Amino acid sequence: MDHFASTGGILHAEDVALPAIAEAVGTPVYVYSQATLQRHARVFREGLSALDNPLIVFAVKANPNLAVLRVLQREGFGADVVSGGELRRALAAGISPDKIVFSGVGKTRAELELGLDTAITQFNIESREEGIELAEIAAARGERARAALRINPDVDAGTHEKISTGKADNKFGVPLHHAPQIFADLAARDGLQLDGLAIHIGSQLADLAPLEAAFERIGTLLAELRASGHTIARVDLGGGLGVPYKAGETFPTPAEYGAMVARVTAGWDVQLAFEPGRVIAGNAGVLLTRVIRVKEGLNAPFVIVDAAMNDLARPALYGAWHDFDAVAETSERVTANIVGPICETGDTFARDRDCPALVAGDLAVFRTAGAYGATMASSYNSRGFVPEVLVSGSEFAVVADRIDAGAIMDAERVPDWLD
Ligand code: LLP
Repeated sequence: MDHFASTGGILHAEDVALPAIAEAVGTPVYVYSQATLQRHARVFREGLSALDNPLIVFAVKANPNLAVLRVLQREGFGADVVSGGELRRALAAGISPDKIVFSGVGKTRAELELGLDTAITQFNIESREEGIELAEIAAARGERARAALRINPDVDAGTHEKISTGKADNKFGVPLHHAPQIFADLAARDGLQLDGLAIHIGSQLADLAPLEAAFERIGTLLAELRASGHTIARVDLGGGLGVPYKAGETFPTPAEYGAMVARVTAGWDVQLAFEPGRVIAGNAGVLLTRVIRVKEGLNAPFVIVDAAMNDLARPALYGAWHDFDAVAETSERVTANIVGPICETGDTFARDRDCPALVAGDLAVFRTAGAYGATMASSYNSRGFVPEVLVSGSEFAVVADRIDAGAIMDAERVPDWLD
């Protein structure tokens, strides 16, 4: 459930009419609803209420905006970060280091050091090589880095291949059958307190079965490691729960997910950690855009909006569907192609889509844009970066400024020899 609904024929974010935001901030603009973020955070936590003291860390990559992180910090969430930049954001949002987990296959030496400097609670180590490097850095500082070993369970998550992470040929984690040996090697090193396992098999999962299969494999490994004398105190089950992108679609709920987790992990005797991203932020945001013009097409008109693939990359990258709705309700519908102004055909949000009949100047939204939206923006075609607005009740605030093409150009220079 989200807090974007029509009142008096005009789409609102909570109590704010979207035209007021377009007027004040311009378009395109990402609009987030604080009440929706809070609701999703609470529903997720309640779904896990059968578990003892779970650690819930928001996957910052889904929406790293500082205000969004702050809302989640106030809900008691920690952060799952994958770069030094995300780690700095989590700290800047007030998230305590004892709730920060550092994932990612390519942490640099500087990032490992930053994690140690800031005393985060857990490094999710993705390879023997990374574990050795972290152990050496920590040992040289006279420290022991708390870590979990990320396992690649070789499970097909049944999602888009570009966002599947738990198959044997994906780059993530260590293969299940190498895990006992790598765990033993790393656990014996001075610089590591290796007492955890981690897993994340993919994103936008529509079905709990692959998650369950993966968790069962982790359970077997856990028992095996304990039988060999290792201590396992924490298991990080990752993120991945999918969300509806089309009105009417249904997905497993956090309560169903929580019940499955409680069943599969009964008797594990560990602290469980979770890294939800999309399920918290996805439906808490829309991309508000204005129609530039409607161009006649061969079979269907082209509705050219002022948002483009550089602002919302998901349709171009993954062929993803985002519902497209008019801000001012209209019952008139057409079949149209919805496209942005960028000079490649990939800049198409929807083909032959049944959508509201719009004319130049009308406002519209792409829904479910709160996760993997603004954060994946680029400045392709020398377009700027879209601003972000957070709504709370009848208030709204710009929480990220528009960075226009001029500001981006200011960071470039022509060397003397080209004078
Ligand atoms: N933990 C790890 C280690 C991850 O790699 C991810 C997402 C998450 C947690 C959060 O997954 P979620 O709960 O959001 O599914 N850009 C793509 C999604 C990439 C997901 C990458 N990893 C998209 O727009 O669909």
